[in-house]
Amino acid sequence: MRKGILSLTAAAAVLALGLTACGGNSGPTSSTSSAQSTQSSQKAGKIGVILPDSKSSARWETADRKYLEEAFKAAGVAYDIQNAQNDKTAFQTIADQMITNGATVLMIVNLDSGTGKTVIDKAKSQGVATIDYDRLTLGGGAAYYVSFDNTKVGTLQGEGLVKCLTDKKASKPIIAELNGSPTDNNATLFKAGYDGVLKPKYDSGDYVKGPDQSVPDWDNAQAGTIFEQMLTSAPKIAGVLAANDGLGNAAITVLKKNNLNGKVPVTGQDATVQGLQNILVGDQCMTVYKAVKKEADAAAKLAVALAKGEKPAASGSVKDPQSNQDVPSELLDPQPIYLDNVKDVVADGYVTKEELCTGDFAAKCTSAGIQ
Ligand code: BGC
Repeated sequence: MRKGILSLTAAAAVLALGLTACGGNSGPTSSTSSAQSTQSSQKAGKIGVILPDSKSSARWETADRKYLEEAFKAAGVAYDIQNAQNDKTAFQTIADQMITNGATVLMIVNLDSGTGKTVIDKAKSQGVATIDYDRLTLGGGAAYYVSFDNTKVGTLQGEGLVKCLTDKKASKPIIAELNGSPTDNNATLFKAGYDGVLKPKYDSGDYVKGPDQSVPDWDNAQAGTIFEQMLTSAPKIAGVLAANDGLGNAAITVLKKNNLNGKVPVTGQDATVQGLQNILVGDQCMTVYKAVKKEADAAAKLAVALAKGEKPAASGSVKDPQSNQDVPSELLDPQPIYLDNVKDVVADGYVTKEELCTGDFAAKCTSAGIQ
């Protein structure tokens, strides 16, 4: 009975995938495993994953999707991974469809806490287990939360900027802060981390606080406009705390137009190919590497256990500041990356030498010891 339902579901999902593919690549994207649907239907339910977008960071499509898929395939469970492409309505529709199509576990990267909570509430009311993946849904009450220590990510960014400014012997530098999306709890945590490092410097007069603005939806294009305005209002900006590599690259593009790239250190996050290339040429001072494979593996492990009807234990918990409830959590450790350890990201298999060391970057890769 159950087997029959899931086989049909898989067929419908494959059909949906075909339709999505025909529609071009601007809409939500999906990948499903139909073979596993039939194979494992007697043992486990289906896992639905909703990724947020593919533009705010390269990671979602190049890393998270890949590693989650690998983990689900290895476990032999049925899964359906879709990307909401920053569309909150599509996000909810995808969740509804996943539940209708037999998902018993839903793993989401919310676009904001409000819509995330709507999805979690719906899932719970249907007996579907929930996991907040990477971003905590405030007041959402997901059963689990898997992420990195995001305050530490911010601390590493703040310390990174200090290190780069010290290396440049900057005196009383004006700092611009280009923060992540105001609706992403991670952006709040990153900022708490880097402000914890920078504020004492502002207070002591070592650094001068310059423009400080959030970038809605982490939109890289908007970040460029915002940074352009920052530089116009404060032409002597001497350091940029950019919350991820995409925002960092937007700032670097503006700095380049003003012949300031390489002179003004810029931070980042995610160890994207673009971010690492910006580090190799000296336009970006550091990034924060989050080993997404570990995050995906930890989340997949919980999801697979839940799909099998188990109640897995998490190693820790995080207090949801809105509901004041403890959410069972797995939090992983981020690592700072500078020119001298870009090679570690390649050695870890997160990016390949082939994609990083193209064209003019080849020589830079060699000097950076990238094998
Ligand atoms: C993630 C970052 C990512 C950003 C934009 C955050 O929630 O933790 O890795 O760069 O969203 O997608």
